[in-house]
Amino acid sequence: MTKYPNILITGGAGFIGSHVVRRLVKNSNYKVVNLDNLTYAGNLENLSDIEANDNYEFVKGDICNSLFIEQLFKDYDFKSVVHLAAESHVDRSISNPIEFINTNVLGTVNLLNAAKNTWMGDFAERRFYHISTDEVYGSLGEKGFFTETTSYDPQSPYSASKASSDHFVRAYGNTYGLPYIISNCSNNYGPNQFPEKLIPLMIHNIKNEQPLPVYGKGENIRDWLYVEDHARAIELILEKGGDGETYNIGGFNEWKNLDLVRLLCDIMDSKLGNPQGTSRELITFVKDRAGHDHRYAIDASKIQKDLGWEPSLQFREGLEKTVDWYFDNEQWLKDVTTGDYLKYYDDHYKNR
Ligand code: NAD
Ligand code: TYD
Repeated sequence: MTKYPNILITGGAGFIGSHVVRRLVKNSNYKVVNLDNLTYAGNLENLSDIEANDNYEFVKGDICNSLFIEQLFKDYDFKSVVHLAAESHVDRSISNPIEFINTNVLGTVNLLNAAKNTWMGDFAERRFYHISTDEVYGSLGEKGFFTETTSYDPQSPYSASKASSDHFVRAYGNTYGLPYIISNCSNNYGPNQFPEKLIPLMIHNIKNEQPLPVYGKGENIRDWLYVEDHARAIELILEKGGDGETYNIGGFNEWKNLDLVRLLCDIMDSKLGNPQGTSRELITFVKDRAGHDHRYAIDASKIQKDLGWEPSLQFREGLEKTVDWYFDNEQWLKDVTTGDYLKYYDDHYKNR
């Protein structure tokens, strides 16, 4: 039997990570090692369809545990790392910033250190690929786009922790010669997203005829990308991206939150057989998020030009597919809307 090189994917049980793991297990010549601590956001049900594949292995572990990480790198001799593990929700970062510093900064530096120590003297063909966010660039006014050379200006504890981790990746490249790539992506949506983020939360609440909490006046703008398109971009960058390069990934798809929620209401009314307008009645304006970034918008022309990547779906089509997935996977939604999630949900929303 062919022995494939090992690749480490961190955070592979999460939303984006599970789509990346599935693609690499199905398409690549790697043995995919998925390292995940299974926090509230990690769900192995996301990968039940590929868990028995020969070129897949799950390892439960914490990227903050440096001894464990060092040993893992020694044991597996990873050819590359795709690092997605993170605390990823802005609202949680406002309630508990320390957890974000631990996982996103310290955890990333532990991985960088282990890669440097294990790979030193043998960097050829290796790659540390760090998955980041457009939020590191801060908040835009009505005009302009984030490019790869936009100065960092993070505004939330989440984006500050991701910005810090990006800086450490570049510092390890500059100081130790560690081969790296970074990509910064806009807001993702699609199957398997934990229902604390805007789109799956709204789908869940529309379905259950619960209030739809829109922060402030709903005028904040995000640039939405279907998760499969992000996973495809990651696969392409891993294969063809240049060492030390940064790639911005975005959907060319800006929406005001209120317009997005209204569109989702209309799509779901059609699917549920409700008279149009029924679900819009559930929209409830609530207290704004502290320090709420006004607008994110990515200029994705570099990845388009250099690697030939483009988003594959129109937004309405992507939303329809997403809603269908949540309808077809009721059990998944039931399984995650328990325990920690419900407690958080009560804590977070009851005073709004
Ligand atoms: P997610 O919250 O759904 O998943 C994160 C995963 O990391 C979970 O499986 C969790 O169990 C795991 N994890 C957390 N702490 C860990 C630890 N200490 N050790 C090991 N595993 C740990 O996140 P996501 O939305 O899939 O985002 C993945 C990555 O992509 C993150 O780095 C995030 O910053 C970045 N990103 C996300 C978006 C988005 O819209 N969701 C956009 C751009 C970039
Ligand atoms: P979110 O999905 O948390 O992503 P991010 O904060 O990383 O962009 O939120 C997307 C937008 O939706 C953001 O402007 C905040 C807003 N929002 C609401 O209006 N209501 C909600 O219940 C949530 C979760 C988000």
